[in-house]
Amino acid sequence: MKGRFITFEGGEGCGKSTQVKRLVDHLRASGIEVVVTREPGGTRLAELIRALLKDEREDPPCDRSELLLFLAARAQLVRNVIRPALSAGKWVVCDRFSDSTFAYQGYGRGLRLDDLRRMNDFACDGLAPDLTLLLDVRPDVACERMRRREAATNTVSDRIEQAGDAFHQRLRAGFMELAAADPGRIKVLDANGSPDDVWRSVLETVNKAWA
Ligand SMILES: Nc1ncnc2c1ncn2[C@@H]1O[C@H](COP(=O)(O)OP(=O)(O)OP(=O)(O)O)[C@@H](O)[C@H]1O
Ligand SMILES: [Mg+2]
Repeated sequence: MKGRFITFEGGEGCGKSTQVKRLVDHLRASGIEVVVTREPGGTRLAELIRALLKDEREDPPCDRSELLLFLAARAQLVRNVIRPALSAGKWVVCDRFSDSTFAYQGYGRGLRLDDLRRMNDFACDGLAPDLTLLLDVRPDVACERMRRREAATNTVSDRIEQAGDAFHQRLRAGFMELAAADPGRIKVLDANGSPDDVWRSVLETVNKAWA
């Protein structure tokens, strides 16, 4: 028995965490055992790496170092959390995974995609998601959501969120290219609507994947 591995992808503020929660609640209510996790993070070591990636400003990681930190966190998560859960027949829902590396470090930072694929494959020991939901929002919509979230939670944006408009445009285009190259796995969802609208598409897409 092998579980199913679902990931959510997309730029900041597209609604990943919101929809991850809805999907996990729904699956659990249907009697499915679900492990929910996020990237970078999900283990003690990986959460320590997450904090470094988000907040180190005095000696910010260079592009290659940033990549290796993300991959180190992913290797730990795959080995200690995701693989064991899938082997036990559980479903795993992860907030970001390998496609974020291809989008951010590849299309965003400009590292070579074929290098990223080889290194990512090494980090994951060949594991790939069964289904990826790419939540696509217009930049102005994402920006407005982030602004409201910052006001509501009294937080400020982190090092990567502050990367600038051109970076975020490359990112969005990159995600769309990744989806076009792997349409069987990556499903693009219009995420400009309300949380309920987006949830309807999420549910429909997940149901269709294993119909
Ligand atoms: N469909 C939606 N319409 C309006 N607001 C939304 C929608 N989905 C989420 N939000 C709100 O927008 C903000 C960003 O959503 P969320 O945290 O789910 O995005 P995210 O993709 O996880 O962002 P990040 O990449 O920063 O983790 C939150 O305050 C959330 O409540
Ligand atoms: Mg989130």
